[in-house]
Amino acid sequence: MRRTLSAKLLGQICVFGRNPPSLASCVVNLCRKSSSKRRNMDLSDMRKNYKGDGECFEESQLVSLDPIQQFGHWFHEATKCPGVGEANAMCLSTATKDGRPSARMVLLKGFSTEGFRFFSNYESRKGSELESNPYACLVFYWEPLNRQIRIEGAVERIPFQSSSDYFHSRPKSSQIGAVYLRQKNAELEEKYKDTDVPMPDYWGGYLVKPSLMEFWQGQTNRLHDRIVFTRSGDGASKPGEFLHRGEGGWSYQRLSP
Ligand SMILES: Cc1cc2nc3c(=O)[nH]c(=O)nc-3n(C[C@H](O)[C@H](O)[C@H](O)COP(=O)(O)O)c2cc1C
Repeated sequence: MRRTLSAKLLGQICVFGRNPPSLASCVVNLCRKSSSKRRNMDLSDMRKNYKGDGECFEESQLVSLDPIQQFGHWFHEATKCPGVGEANAMCLSTATKDGRPSARMVLLKGFSTEGFRFFSNYESRKGSELESNPYACLVFYWEPLNRQIRIEGAVERIPFQSSSDYFHSRPKSSQIGAVYLRQKNAELEEKYKDTDVPMPDYWGGYLVKPSLMEFWQGQTNRLHDRIVFTRSGDGASKPGEFLHRGEGGWSYQRLSP
């Protein structure tokens, strides 16, 4: 892709002759040109190299056979990795009752053996989808570490008091800004100058209770080994030749590619 782009840019610069335009205007021009002709962007050359061929992601590399602990370890490494901007940013997928999916980023605000917590507006699209279909999938991708974690599970609202505690732990401007978007911030800031902002009943936290957790490590040989954990209690997961008993009520197996 980079090669294709730079060759095309060079062509553009040559066409413009003695007064070469800026790089930005070349790109804008190229985009206009390609969209006007309805060209497809061919991205087939676009790839990055992962770890060495010899390096596999094996069960022995897990620090724990409890996926929550394993998550904690990778999450900690992601927070320490300078190239990861927001380690707790995750893609949240929900679906309507008839299975039409939607996805968006949200921030993880806590995790434990109980599950993974985030906060939102209960009246948002995600909120109404979770109301009618209380299941979700979370995906973390920490690009500099070549790691992805997928988490699937049932979702429930957290208790009002826990939401309220979190709500009031945020800076007052965030409480006002995030919740009362349709009202004038200046008026509200004056109104709640000396008092707490009341948490509206349409705002609060959710808990994703994991029944599947999959750890992916990118490899150069592109096999991209994964280790998937499922709750031992689920009928589908009985330890056997490929499925092993983990810890904390979990079973695991290695999948590739
Ligand atoms: C990095 C990032 C973090 C976000 N964190 C949250 C969050 O924690 N809670 C939230 O409701 N929206 C968050 N958003 C906004 C959502 O992605 C989304 O636009 C909004 O919640 C409306 O989604 P919905 O219409 O699908 O319900 C975040 C967006 C980004 C890019």
